Amino acid sequence: MLAHVTTFTIDGLSSRRITVEVDLRRGLPAFTIVGRGDAAVRESRERVQTALVNAGFDFPQRRITVNLAPAHLRKVGPGFDLATACGVLVASGQLPPAALEHWAVFAELSLGGELRHCRGVLSVAEGARAAGIAGLIVPRECAREAALVEGLEVAGVTRLQEVAAILRGMPRPELPPPAAGPPPDADDPDLGDVRGHTGPIRAVTIAAAGAHNILLSGPPGTGKTMLARRAISILPPLTRDEAIAVTRIHSIAGRHVSDELVRQRPFRAPHHSISPAGLVGGGSLPQPGEATLAHHGILFLDELSEFSRSALEALRQPLEDGAVAIVRGQHTVTFPTRFQLVASTNPCPCGMAGDDRCRCSEADVARHRRKLSGPLLDRMDMLVNMPRPKAEDLERSVGTRSQEVRGAVLAARERQAHRLAGTGLRTNAELTPRLVRELVRADGSAIALLRNSYAQGQLSARGHGRILRVARTIADLDGCARVREHHVREALGLREEQVLEGAVAA
Ligand SMILES: Nc1ncnc2c1ncn2[C@@H]1O[C@H](COP(=O)(O)OP(=O)(O)OP(=O)(O)O)[C@@H](O)[C@H]1O
Ligand SMILES: [Mg+2]
Repeated sequence: MLAHVTTFTIDGLSSRRITVEVDLRRGLPAFTIVGRGDAAVRESRERVQTALVNAGFDFPQRRITVNLAPAHLRKVGPGFDLATACGVLVASGQLPPAALEHWAVFAELSLGGELRHCRGVLSVAEGARAAGIAGLIVPRECAREAALVEGLEVAGVTRLQEVAAILRGMPRPELPPPAAGPPPDADDPDLGDVRGHTGPIRAVTIAAAGAHNILLSGPPGTGKTMLARRAISILPPLTRDEAIAVTRIHSIAGRHVSDELVRQRPFRAPHHSISPAGLVGGGSLPQPGEATLAHHGILFLDELSEFSRSALEALRQPLEDGAVAIVRGQHTVTFPTRFQLVASTNPCPCGMAGDDRCRCSEADVARHRRKLSGPLLDRMDMLVNMPRPKAEDLERSVGTRSQEVRGAVLAARERQAHRLAGTGLRTNAELTPRLVRELVRADGSAIALLRNSYAQGQLSARGHGRILRVARTIADLDGCARVREHHVREALGLREEQVLEGAVAA
């Protein structure tokens, strides 16, 4: 007898519908799975057989053939276990054939017959709804994640016996209550911890308001890492659509441990030994990299000069396009990468450049600067110097708290969203040259100032647009509809070329 079960496989960030066909016939007992499965799929035979027996079902002593269709798609992961088990139960008459018309299933099985958590449940649920399937059976701990998709019946189940009961027509169990989230943490890093540094804090605020890329440069121990880690605390909360996108990514990467929507903007700080594939994604079955895990959040590259050149160069496309395409044979997977880049570096190997104590030779300094990838630096909207704070600043009590700054950032973001309505963009950093021309209105004196800087050779054509974008953000923080001269002046000052002297022309 033949049974058909609907399940899904993960492909990039979305899911593809898979039909598991199970055929039972007389002959020497055998259990074969065909249809381009990976190792986890091949091993699924042992899990399914043992799980069925341990859950009290009969494992038919027949010739069993399982086909995963369509055959041309590669099938990954252990998520086919439950579909295969259900197919065997229907094909051997232990479940009614009509049982699987209503439901798709997606879970790994334990040897005892329990359903185990699988990566990518949110994408599977979205796929099921798009395919017009009425209901989805998933492990109980993933049920709330699947239920984020509206218009889909979700059954969160612990054991194989309960799956059988639902397929025989028993009502599905209620969704589990939300797991207690982590308590709101009073110890979260707050901008108020940073003493002094009024200029850099202002720069980080502007960067957050417009989602601009920023590089902080300064001697060791001045608080570059400290300030960068606090940049996340002044970003506005995720919108629901953004939260769904982030949850989808983190679920597929296996980093989403709770059963709820991700509420925090991602902050990813990969170590400088990371490979290009680790940074932008890769592998024979493409997995998202740090750039995608930082989507809608911050990618923080601490000690930028220590990253390998190949890793930094790999970031160019994702920075430019907001997405990275990974090609494997005939197949291309695209991962989104709209992150804000925050980076830090020392100005020279000893970190004391510009100070009498600097022991580096000119050649050392030049080599250090060459290590910072020029094309990457050219995509930095802001280059900011962080000198040692003054002694009296360090002694001062708490500075401005994140919460106060976040209010201003939020207001500026709302102005941008209003201006960009209908373009599909959200922040000034994303403005294309055409949109800069169309949407950024500036005073005559502001334009004159910009023209002067350009004429003096201080700006490249790309730099020209960049200054306008940053100036637009400063005006948004100011609540100004037009960009004024002092906004442009401040934006020009936020690209302190001496930070890199000659490493890149603005
Ligand atoms: N401006 C500051 N206000 C308060 N504490 C500071 C400040 N600067 C540095 N510190 C203290 O010094 C520690 C080290 O700072 P941090 O790691 O941010 O320095 P850094 O600039 O990243 O140095 P490096 O170049 O060596 O990486 C911080 O954890 C903090 O305790
Ligand atoms: Mg540091």
